[in-house]
Amino acid sequence: MLRTHTCGALRQADVDQSTTLAGWIHAIRDKGKIIWIDLRDRYGRTQLVLEEGITPDKLFQQVRALGREYVIQATGKVVARSAPNPHLPTGGIEVQVTQLQVLNTALLPPFLIEDDTDGGEELRMRHRYLDLRRPVLQHNLQLRHQLLHCCRNYLDKQHFLEIETPTLIKSTPEGARDFIVPARQQPGHFYALPQSPQTLKQLLMVSGMDRYYQVAKCFRDEDLRADRQPEFTQLDCELSFVEQEDVLQLFEGLLQQVLQELKGVTLPAFPRMTYAEAMAQYGTDKPDLRLGMPFVELTDLVKGQGFPVFDAAALVVGVVVKGAAQWSRKQLDVLTQYVREHTPAQGLVYVKYGDEVKSSVDKFFTAEQLTTWAERANAQRGDALLVLAGEVAPTREALGQLRLEIGKALPESEQAPAFAALWVTDFPLLEWEEETQRYHAMHHPFTSPKPEDDALLETDPGAVRANAYDLVLNGQEIGGGSIRIHDPALQERMFRTLGIVPEVAQEQFGFLLHALQHGAPPHGGIALGIDRICAVLAGTSSIRDVIAFPKNNAGKDTMLQAPGTLAEEASQLAEVGLKRR
Ligand code: AMO
Repeated sequence: MLRTHTCGALRQADVDQSTTLAGWIHAIRDKGKIIWIDLRDRYGRTQLVLEEGITPDKLFQQVRALGREYVIQATGKVVARSAPNPHLPTGGIEVQVTQLQVLNTALLPPFLIEDDTDGGEELRMRHRYLDLRRPVLQHNLQLRHQLLHCCRNYLDKQHFLEIETPTLIKSTPEGARDFIVPARQQPGHFYALPQSPQTLKQLLMVSGMDRYYQVAKCFRDEDLRADRQPEFTQLDCELSFVEQEDVLQLFEGLLQQVLQELKGVTLPAFPRMTYAEAMAQYGTDKPDLRLGMPFVELTDLVKGQGFPVFDAAALVVGVVVKGAAQWSRKQLDVLTQYVREHTPAQGLVYVKYGDEVKSSVDKFFTAEQLTTWAERANAQRGDALLVLAGEVAPTREALGQLRLEIGKALPESEQAPAFAALWVTDFPLLEWEEETQRYHAMHHPFTSPKPEDDALLETDPGAVRANAYDLVLNGQEIGGGSIRIHDPALQERMFRTLGIVPEVAQEQFGFLLHALQHGAPPHGGIALGIDRICAVLAGTSSIRDVIAFPKNNAGKDTMLQAPGTLAEEASQLAEVGLKRR
């Protein structure tokens, strides 16, 4: 070992011990007769001290030639600091250096290796190995390790087997485009990288593996956002002989365990909401329950009173904002502007329940009428009611967006929990797509319909609800799953409803249809988005902050320069039977 301690280990109890540390020079402070070096590694920082008269002369001069991020090994004695630094765990001590060796030199880093760095995103991404030296990212990767460790432990105790499935496979429909890989030995043929291991984990259930999990890399060629990467990680799970309730309970337990171990937070039993309820109450299928502010429908109260906007609307719906009666005209104008620019709604109606009742529709409604709205909405004195009107779906969507926008601006109330999880259930099985004029599976085509809706599959496909569920944490969809179709006849009906003719179904999914005929047990499962869970735990809005080497918004790795061109394009393409147009 090149060290006896890490840079985060030494305390006052170690005073007078001799120690050897190794790490990176974080900073050098040269005060003439005394030089301090902050030495850094993954575990923390320790102050080294060299003093004229105490430190050997040659060493004292040698240190002046060192630079930031040099890798050194230093040996010396632990001494108590005359002025302890209460902000550092090692702040009570320093190491009086007697020997020092440069293990490697370093170029001047292009940005500060600090949480509060001066480097822009692009520069940091090009030097991600330096970016990852920043404490915040070191912490995030450690958190990610702990998260996976905790999940593995939990699942192991529940008798799950960790089984790997291949990456060079065939298309797995999860609603995105595939990344494809040409096959050299079969010119004109391609592998697809898995969008998820969905079909393979179902086959493992047919094999009798009973409980499977995998930390699986998934690949989806889709537009990127803060919560989406083209290559991401799922904790992919499948179980045999279970019903939806079993899956929900088991994975509720897993998330509770994670929050307990990693954050010391005890999550109460997760609320459950159907998709229809979530859309009606929050205008989204992934409500952030930390904010409160459920929707209040006012349609029946406000129609027929002479206000044309409400009279023409299919839905009039609002949210109560606590304490917002004191909001200024300007603040409300900013929100109105937000609604017009960023949501499908046209305008915003407000009612402020202050000392007097004031609203933007005073011309149309009396104070008494506005008070009945407050009663319906349970608005108290000091609150405001913000109301949108229009067609049902876009109005809900708009109010959902407005609710989140207001949430961003609200001061973090002490009562708001740091974490709020819920299950959203009973998703529609199918969604109508205008562009292709056909239904597509809202989750994936292997999800079973609710038995009570089975008969509607041919007659009213849009009304069929699925045995599908999402797990939501702080307004993020962190997992999704379903009880699968294990009856081959039902799977064939499902393909037919999706407009996949039998020949195509055979060609694409013949292996699954055959496997279902060989004694497939009832089964279901879920996949958790590890990147998203980790981002929520780390308190960051971008999953890039919890991935060691993420891609940028254009799907590029600017450090590796990937994707790149081929060194010998013509011959490499010819080898796999391709030619560039
Ligand atoms: P689904 O497509 O819902 O389900 O994915 C499961 C979870 O994976 C995460 N996720 C992503 N994370 C980062 N970047 C992405 N591009 C991305 N896409 C999805 C989300 C999501 O909830 N086979 C099914 C699971 C099942 O039915 O068991 C599936 O893949 O957190």
